[in-house]
Parts: sequence; structure tokens; C-alpha cells
Amino acid sequence: MAGSTTTTTTIAAVLETTKKETPVNVLEGGALDEQYYNLQEDELAFFKAQTGIQNEGELKRHIMKAQEDAYKSDVWSGVLRPYEAHFSTKGKGMSHHFDAMLTTLDPVCRSIHIRVSAALLSPSILKISRLPAYKQLLELGQKRAGAMFLDIGCCFGNDVRKAIVDGFPAHQALASDLKAEFWDLGHHLFNSTPSSFPVKFLPGDALDAAFLEPGPIFTSPPAEAAPALTTLETLSPLRGHVSAIHASSFFHLFDEPTQTALSRAVAGLLSPEPGSVIFGVHGGRPEKGLRIEQGAPNARGNYMFCHCPESWAALWDGEIFPKGTVRVEATLINVKRDMRGPVLPGTQFWALVWSVTRL
Ligand SMILES: C[S@@+](CC[C@H](N)C(=O)[O-])C[C@H]1O[C@@H](n2cnc3c(N)ncnc32)[C@H](O)[C@@H]1O
Repeated sequence: MAGSTTTTTTIAAVLETTKKETPVNVLEGGALDEQYYNLQEDELAFFKAQTGIQNEGELKRHIMKAQEDAYKSDVWSGVLRPYEAHFSTKGKGMSHHFDAMLTTLDPVCRSIHIRVSAALLSPSILKISRLPAYKQLLELGQKRAGAMFLDIGCCFGNDVRKAIVDGFPAHQALASDLKAEFWDLGHHLFNSTPSSFPVKFLPGDALDAAFLEPGPIFTSPPAEAAPALTTLETLSPLRGHVSAIHASSFFHLFDEPTQTALSRAVAGLLSPEPGSVIFGVHGGRPEKGLRIEQGAPNARGNYMFCHCPESWAALWDGEIFPKGTVRVEATLINVKRDMRGPVLPGTQFWALVWSVTRL
């Protein structure tokens, strides 16, 4: 794999800050247990800046309320919940959902916890900033005129907000998820409005060709100028124009053929300019295949399909992009499991931290 690195060594130095012994949030009969509210210093600063609420007691009440509202929302019951894995709940209400998700991605990506448990009782609200390719994103924002950034499968939008706080131009950023309600919940959580935080959000299904048209990968700049983000109704007009795409906990929602098709569609959005990057983190395995070690299938009757670093790199460097035209970095992180499911002692779980950069 020319130009690609795939290792199973930890990148502990980069990710150390995410390794926190935060216990799993537990819902008891629908009520949230606030003992799990334990924002770290940088997260607290982030929330204060986003919400404008400086009083920590008031901030906590605001976050707990937003969390409660998120659980009551249609996107929780209709969109996110079907992904939950079937693990022993041991009378813990919906907590098994979080256990399952956290097991997959903890500590890099506790943000399922964030997203639904409202971001709030867990440290990964700033997850994007822990990823090695984050600095490439920020550099693109500073150095490439008009560089566009897309956060796809953004959920509440915490990652795009973090990138903007760190300097990515807000008017060049956009976010997308299945339903507008995700973005609305994000406004609720972060105490903003479409006027105070006017970043473009596009609701739509990334697997729907009417929303994201699959097409050839751009090897030279698109003939047409990039459209104004404000005019967009689908992602397709952005094909070939996006400088950076963040996609975390996204690809692993789908089986292998769908991951391939989705990779191709997302790659079609990427600008051919060298340095353009797609990156994220999601469930992985040392050998590609179904994550049967999770103990039981999810609510849809499936086991998660996981790539290994080598298969993920081979997919992007050779199958999606012409071989040798991208640098793929893919690293497995051994993640701590913190669940109550029927899993054999000694079972290991992994997250794949990755980026694909055009050469
Ligand atoms: C597991 S969450 C990841 C959220 C965020 N990227 C993060 O890492 O915190 C997956 C997100 O993908 C969204 N999603 C699932 N299927 C999708 C699709 N076909 N098109 C667009 N978004 C989708 C879900 O609604 C959900 O918000």
C-alpha cells in the first residue's frame, strides 16, 4: 500500500486525553443519573463558550434538561435506538445501549454517550480534536482559500462546533445527518439558534442517490465553481468541492457492501487538491469481519461489520481512489470494555482511527 500506514500500535500519546475512567451513564426508569455528569476542564470551557452559561450549576441543569429532552425525542426512539446492541440490561433500563456503544469505541469515541445521553455525561464531546488528522482539517481552514468542511452523520453537531471554535471558518463548514431534529437538539443543547449559529445543516440519507449522488472520483477540479452553502438542499452539488470530511461512528453502522458504496459516494465529494482529507474513528478489528465477539447481534439482528487497518487501507487506496493517489493512515486502538453483556473473559474490542489524504 504505497503511502499508507496501518499499524496496531497504540497512538496513546495522541489519545491519552480521552482515556478517562468515566463510568457508563445509567438510566434508571428513564431518569438520568447525574453522578455521571463529570465534564473535564476543556469540556466545561467548551460548554460555557457554546451556551453562554457561566454558572456551573445553571450549566449542569441546562445540560441535564437537554439530555432528558433528547431521550424523549423522535430521533432517539426512531433513529438511534435501532442501532443498539442487545446486551444484558440487568435492570438498567436503556443503559445497555450505551454500554454496547461505549464498548465499541471507548475511549476514543464515547460520543454516542454524548449524542444521546446528551453529550453530557461523557468526555468525548471534543472527540474530533483528539484525532490525529484534526490538525490537517484546521490547517486547511487556515491555508486553503474557501476550503469546505463537512461533518457527515454529525448527530448533535458537537464536532463541527469544536472545529469552528478552533478556527475553521464557520461559513465554510456544514453538517449533515438523517433528520433535522438532530440539529435542532444540538441548538437546544448548545443554547444556540440558527441565527446565532448559522452553520449550514443538510438533513438527508447519505445512502440515497437523490441526496448524495454516487459518481466518479474527481481527479481534476470540477468544471463548475463550488455552490454557495446557503443554497444547498442536497450534498450532490458539492461533489469534488469538499476539502475535509469527518465521518466518525458512521461507516460501521453498515454492512461491508454498504460501507464500500458509502465510501465511494463520500469520496466523490472530496476535492482532488492534494491534502484534502476524509477522517474519523469507528469500530474495527485486527481481522476484518463481523464483530461476533460482541456477544449478541444488535436490535436489527446484525453483528457490526468491522474492517481491519489493512482492509480499510486497501479499500480506500486502490478500490475507491486510484492506487497510490492517497495516503491512508489506519490504526487500531484497543478499547476498554465496560459492559454487562454476555462476553467471554479476555475479549478485546478495538476502534479504528483513520484518515485518507489525497496526494
Ligand atoms: C453513531 S452516530 C455518530 C455521530 C457523530 N459522527 C459522532 O461520532 O459523535 C451515527 C450518526 O449517523 C447518522 N446516520 C445513520 N445512517 C445515516 C445515513 N444513511 N445517512 C446520514 N446519516 C446517517 C445517525 O443518525 C447518527 O447521528
